[in-house]
Amino acid sequence: METVETLIAKLIDEVDYPHATELFKKLSGGKRLRARLILTIAPEAPSAPLLGAIVELIHAASLLHDDVIDEAQLRRGVPSVNATQGSKTAIMLGDILYSKAFSELTAFDPKISRAVAESVTRLSVGEMMDVSMAESFNTDRELYLKMLYLKTATLIEACAYGAAVLAGKDAQAHAIYGKNLGLAFQIVDDILDITADEATLGKPSLNDFSEGKVTLPYIDLYERLGRDEKERLVQSHAQVLEDEEKGWIRSRMDQFHVIEHSYAHARALCDEAVAAIGDDLALRAIIETVIQRSH
Ligand code: FPP
Ligand code: MG
Repeated sequence: METVETLIAKLIDEVDYPHATELFKKLSGGKRLRARLILTIAPEAPSAPLLGAIVELIHAASLLHDDVIDEAQLRRGVPSVNATQGSKTAIMLGDILYSKAFSELTAFDPKISRAVAESVTRLSVGEMMDVSMAESFNTDRELYLKMLYLKTATLIEACAYGAAVLAGKDAQAHAIYGKNLGLAFQIVDDILDITADEATLGKPSLNDFSEGKVTLPYIDLYERLGRDEKERLVQSHAQVLEDEEKGWIRSRMDQFHVIEHSYAHARALCDEAVAAIGDDLALRAIIETVIQRSH
């Protein structure tokens, strides 16, 4: 992973704009799940660290833009770039990161560059769907899962596929693993938005619902509530919630075990992922940390 970090710093330096370098250095790198996945699948491939660095730049760009779109004040517990520098700077920094990443991607096998590039188109479609779905209370589970696939899983799927191509492994099987890992990751993320405390999250709890995002636990809850309580839940959608309302939502979620149901869904996706890659212990370990993480 050190090589990936060094490469990321080198690519940013090559942009040759100190202001961008300075802003980039202030970003928290996060878990680097995508780069770790690539190195785990293709540990011996000489260009795996570069592919990891490229994908992390794309991911960082997507988060910069996402925070503008979501008007998020915090990212990984620190003020977002849009909060401190304004939206224009956040958008342009994102543009620099992803265009630099794409320049580097051109040196890769077209199977890899195409897979990554197409995943970024899907990621952008997923983000648009997310925004439009947040305008009303979505109760369509399949539509929600499709959006999750596009917004989060597709880039992870492309990472696993690309790394398998680099390593001469079964690319289709690894793509299935990546897709399921990505979906499980996002479902766990949605759960943590409800169950983790604000200090751990680095943002207010039940933030997704306040932002209008009706995630899996809320869709499940809606299906189980009676008519009047359905109405109450819909009224709370996309609002800044009082503690009393948060308490009511949590108590109903407890009553109907919706968090357990969402975990079971994530677990089933993990099982499917593991079935695709067989006895690769390192990949099993990655998916286990994703499902058991607390932040
Ligand atoms: C986070 O979602 C957002 C994403 C994973 C994808 C965002 C994609 C774009 C903005 C498309 C543009 C892409 C590029 C490369 C510029 P979230 O808001 O549910 O998660 P959060 O809680 O981490 O903000
Ligand atoms: Mg967001």
